Amino acid sequence: MNIIDIIVKKKNKEELSKEEIEYAINGYLEGSIKDYQMSSLLMAIVLNGMNLEETYYLTKTMLESGDKCDLSEIEGFVIDKHSTGGVGDKTTLILGPILASMGLKMAKMSGRGLGHTGGTIDKLESIKGFKVELSRDEFIKEVNEIGMSVISQSGNIVPADKKLYQLRDVTGTTESIPLIASSIMSKKIASGSKNIIIDLKVGNGALMKTLDSARCLANYMVEIGKRFDRSVICVLTNMSEPLGKNIGNGLEVIESIDYLNGLQSRDLKELITTLVCTAMKVSKNMSEEEAIKLMNEKVSSGEALDKFRQFVEYQGGDIESIDISNKMLQINSSKEGFLKSINTLKLGEIVRNLGAGRISKDDNIDYGVGIVLNKKVGDLIMPGEELLKIYYNKKDIRIDELLSCFEVVEEPVARQDVIIEVIGG
Ligand code: URA
Repeated sequence: MNIIDIIVKKKNKEELSKEEIEYAINGYLEGSIKDYQMSSLLMAIVLNGMNLEETYYLTKTMLESGDKCDLSEIEGFVIDKHSTGGVGDKTTLILGPILASMGLKMAKMSGRGLGHTGGTIDKLESIKGFKVELSRDEFIKEVNEIGMSVISQSGNIVPADKKLYQLRDVTGTTESIPLIASSIMSKKIASGSKNIIIDLKVGNGALMKTLDSARCLANYMVEIGKRFDRSVICVLTNMSEPLGKNIGNGLEVIESIDYLNGLQSRDLKELITTLVCTAMKVSKNMSEEEAIKLMNEKVSSGEALDKFRQFVEYQGGDIESIDISNKMLQINSSKEGFLKSINTLKLGEIVRNLGAGRISKDDNIDYGVGIVLNKKVGDLIMPGEELLKIYYNKKDIRIDELLSCFEVVEEPVARQDVIIEVIGG
């Protein structure tokens, strides 16, 4: 067997065998297969796909590339929520503390940015001192004491995904159903999650651009979950506009704190409410009304925010010290009308290029840069009115490029719903 034949086979749209998948992944991990060969295979997979059987073997091989974590020492019901990635997606930072305050446990391994989408670990590192690596015992202890912990893919958990994820991030090979399904499911299974809720983003700012591709990804993940005896629920959600208002690592942490303080964007609230209701239904068979009532109590009493504080402190972070650039430019609209659409992919790329994400594997992140939106789809906007603020450090800002992301029309436009449908469970 050799890697060139495997690449050519996938290039020719043929099915790879279990042995070929194992050969490619294990060879890449130990170094006999090089970055340039794996990049080529990844691109062939992006272009020609993999069927469910191949994706299952890919998941299994990745899962077996490292250690498995046993969460049985965690007391209570453990829920894991994972997002397929979007722009402005700070959901974990809000959902974790809310669920912890409602008595559930969230023990989570999160990722860094991928392509134009942000990653929870990069966001958390915008908090001064925050440690994203904990020992297994510290991780379990934190979840038992506080109710939540978010750490990076540390130790030897799915090292194959760690290496492939970094390569995909900088080779334009992020948007692929088998690569996303295997990346997410191998991590969830290896990290011991039994109850998995996937926030599967769909739209121009997501890795899945169409509803059909999102449904296919959902079905792959639900099916793979079944083969490993895991419950997987996929909530398909709109990513045709950024989630909430802030995009960029530090800015998203600030918006999460604002949310827990009661300052909540409509779309973010819709998403958080649905995820909370889903988690409470799965864990305690709680009705929607009860779940919403309890959630509102925990937020308004400050208990959810307290959980966030305890979590940040436990992991060494200083909540008062979040990196935000002091260079800011306000961009106003030159048009009058209703905001019809936002080119979310482009906006995500602009923020990544400012330094919030990586172009090369070892790029450093600029945690303080990003965008704060003042208008969302459906809003009325007047000439001279603020459209957004951009926080930057080094880069020149191209105002024309930014403005081209916003389509303004004369006729009123409906606001976009966030929840599209639920698959699995
Ligand atoms: N999240 C992951 O963990 N992997 C992907 O491929 C996409 C989103």
